[in-house]
Amino acid sequence: MKSKKLIIGNWKMYPVNMKDAKATFSAIKKVASTLRNVQTVICPPFIYVSELKKLVTGHRVVIGAQNVWTENEGAYTGEISPTMLTSLGATYVILGHSERRAMGEADELINKKVLAAFKAGLTVVLCVGESMRDPDGLYMKFIATQMQTALHGVQKKDLSQMVIAYEPIWAIGKHATRPALPEDVLEISILIKKTLADLYAKDGATVPILYGGSVDAKNAWEFLLKSQVDGLLVGRASLDAKVFGEILLSADKVK
Ligand code: 13P
Repeated sequence: MKSKKLIIGNWKMYPVNMKDAKATFSAIKKVASTLRNVQTVICPPFIYVSELKKLVTGHRVVIGAQNVWTENEGAYTGEISPTMLTSLGATYVILGHSERRAMGEADELINKKVLAAFKAGLTVVLCVGESMRDPDGLYMKFIATQMQTALHGVQKKDLSQMVIAYEPIWAIGKHATRPALPEDVLEISILIKKTLADLYAKDGATVPILYGGSVDAKNAWEFLLKSQVDGLLVGRASLDAKVFGEILLSADKVK
């Protein structure tokens, strides 16, 4: 997996209806299915998973989800379980996204979700990232702690199902204060590698690291080339099939 670039589209709560979801997915698939050096994952809202899965052919584009609950069944109104997702053919799940943390999800709950997702066979994309950068570098400790807590009880054998995404909150979405620079991301990708090495020794090096936050068709290659990341987690730009297609094409070219 590490040799292929992993490009994940986080569709958040878009597009507004199934028809648009199918059209966008089909247009993305047209490009993604031709690329040998890229693994593409689309994470739509839960309600589109099943229909989009029907459009999947082959392994170059697969489906993930944006959240999951800690149990496989039970009285949990409004939640979706890991085995419900796998029964529909979803293979990835994004956990710990800052937009869910802002709704009150803490590292301890994220840890339970991570363990439940592994048990069901899902690949976990664990998001970490600081809300701001302080001059003393305390954000580094913050990110290491997010990882250590969310990975509590995760074994070496689970690492083949693990991906870490660095998403600095200040660089995400319409309200980003500034785009992250490749060197900002390089610093944290080194920190993530070190934290994984502390936890899992050399096995930690097998875990792909992604960057997410205002990735577009112009800057994608720079992060892949200069920041020592194995892929990208793309929000807004993954909803425009033309722009996302350009990101996929540039990822396919980066060696
Ligand atoms: P944007 O690419 O829209 O900044 O969103 C990033 C993100 O949150 C992906 O998970």
